[in-house]
Amino acid sequence: MCGIVGYIGPRDAVEFLVMGLHRLEYRGYDSSGVATITPDGRFALVKTAGRISQLEKRLADTPAPGSVGIGHTRWATHGNPSDENAHPHFGGDGELAVVHNGVIENYRAIKQRLENEGYVFQSATDSEVIAHLIDSCLKRQPPVEDMAAADFGPLVGAVQLALAQLRGTYGLVVLFHQWPEVLIAARLGSPLIVGVGDNEHFIASDASPLAGFTDKIVYLADNELAVVTASELRVIHRDQGQVNHNVHVLDFQAADVAKGGFDHFMLKEIFEQPEAVENVLRGRLDHDAATSKFGGFNLTPQQLRALNRIIMTACGTSWHAGLVGEYQIETLARLPVEVEYASELRYSNPPIDNGTLVIAITQSGETADTLAALREMQRKGCPVLGICNVVGSTIPQETDGGFYLRAGPEIGVASTKAFTSQCTLLAMLALYFGRLRHLSFSAGKQIIAELQDLPDKVRQSLKHNDQVRSIAEKYAKCNNFLYLGRQFNFPTALEGALKLKEISYIHAEGYPAAEMKHGPIALVDKNTPSVFIMPRGQVYDKVMSNLQEIKARGGPVIAVVCEGDTEAAELADDIIEIPAVEEYLQPIITVIPLQLLAYHIAVVRGCDVDKPRNLAKSVTVA
Ligand code: F6R
Repeated sequence: MCGIVGYIGPRDAVEFLVMGLHRLEYRGYDSSGVATITPDGRFALVKTAGRISQLEKRLADTPAPGSVGIGHTRWATHGNPSDENAHPHFGGDGELAVVHNGVIENYRAIKQRLENEGYVFQSATDSEVIAHLIDSCLKRQPPVEDMAAADFGPLVGAVQLALAQLRGTYGLVVLFHQWPEVLIAARLGSPLIVGVGDNEHFIASDASPLAGFTDKIVYLADNELAVVTASELRVIHRDQGQVNHNVHVLDFQAADVAKGGFDHFMLKEIFEQPEAVENVLRGRLDHDAATSKFGGFNLTPQQLRALNRIIMTACGTSWHAGLVGEYQIETLARLPVEVEYASELRYSNPPIDNGTLVIAITQSGETADTLAALREMQRKGCPVLGICNVVGSTIPQETDGGFYLRAGPEIGVASTKAFTSQCTLLAMLALYFGRLRHLSFSAGKQIIAELQDLPDKVRQSLKHNDQVRSIAEKYAKCNNFLYLGRQFNFPTALEGALKLKEISYIHAEGYPAAEMKHGPIALVDKNTPSVFIMPRGQVYDKVMSNLQEIKARGGPVIAVVCEGDTEAAELADDIIEIPAVEEYLQPIITVIPLQLLAYHIAVVRGCDVDKPRNLAKSVTVA
């Protein structure tokens, strides 16, 4: 949550800062601000509650010129969204300004001490504590006349002294009033990236603001601090001193973080799914051995063969993908899988044996509960693999191995293409584990052929967009929805319900279709549509009976069915057709009309699809 940007170089800093904040707005959007050092040496600080557009209005009245600056967009944790609580925060009497992502757990004790020293706080945030603390440490540093000649040593020393006192997580950037030729950035548990330009540097909490400005990026690691001038980047590790930094190539373009003609990022990302599925498959199918191949296991086939259990852990949509993976791996590989909410797993104490592998699934790679759960499992001695989309994020750095989704930036707060990519990758893992065990060469060949057909089937499902829009218009006024599916499509029901509630604020429940008789059927009435996910498969007839139970009680039914299913068409009020596909791949296809349904209902209801209320992408607080 929250987004950070920084700039130092020849440009007008605020232009980059505001553009960058727009690109980061999906991470938090309740208040924002920028600070620059003006050409005449003043601090310009402009911040406000509300969206970035509000900040732009403020900047039109109160410009913030200068070629060095920092900016922030906030998702409130400590203190409500307000002008005062928006970042940047001043330290001392405006000696420095700080933007911060993360949570400082011991801020109360530090605040008390600083108040005793005479510091006056303007906000209710934990972040302002960092600003005053750095100032207090700076005042204890020996004075230096030429800071640049001293390699900004006193500034670095002050920031290091302050950081050593913090308990919690931070990605932060400090801008000093007297020393506009340098920015200091630091991270612990909250990502920070430095973009290397031609005599300029950019800083951001993820790579999206950098696209189009530079393709050379440096990921800071935990406990690293960056001393950034226009011409130089030095990275200093808390324990190792100055360290070499690797420059990576940014693998996406400015177009990837723009809406590209779509009304919303969510719709764009729904329509990117054929390519996303292609990308996750690319290079990972081994035709000769009739299996899948992965570079990132960091475990030998013998170690993988010896596993007797997988625990998958994740949150939200990624947890739903884990449930799909459970069905896939248990079906194709006969290997027991448990799927745990990361927020529960981190505090539970499940019995673990030597044959347990943990897989953490995450789009962002930053979800605090997923990170905590994987650390707890590592503490217990389990190997942990990660399935992640965002390259260089925290979780892939901490896992023992893993796989990137390569889905490209997912900016809409509601996850879509990450889910289908996760399910595809899990199907490939199921194939791999199956081939290590009992699956024959010809069964492996068959699965490879089915996986290769997937992108086209996703494409075909998207063709029903207009029809889904009409169905959405018909039901958009309903205030309750049920989503019902069985086996592989039970997780799809959960995911369809989650998509609807998070972006349209309609109450929706996902259930295994047969379970609804045990309570939820009491909700059924003529204003409560039930969305049945019922492609042809082993439980088709059973789901059909469940559908009839709903119809018998006067509930409207929208059914997601295979093309040409006249039986379901006769009973359902509305149908959405999808191409037939093997059961273990069905969620990747059946979820598409559900994403579109949620999207169009939210649009009809006038909701802010990409930035739903109370939410933000990347839940970095536990
Ligand atoms: C729902 C959604 C969230 C995330 C969850 C986990 O559309 O996006 O439920 O799936 O916060 O996030 P990641 O996958 O980044 O760990």
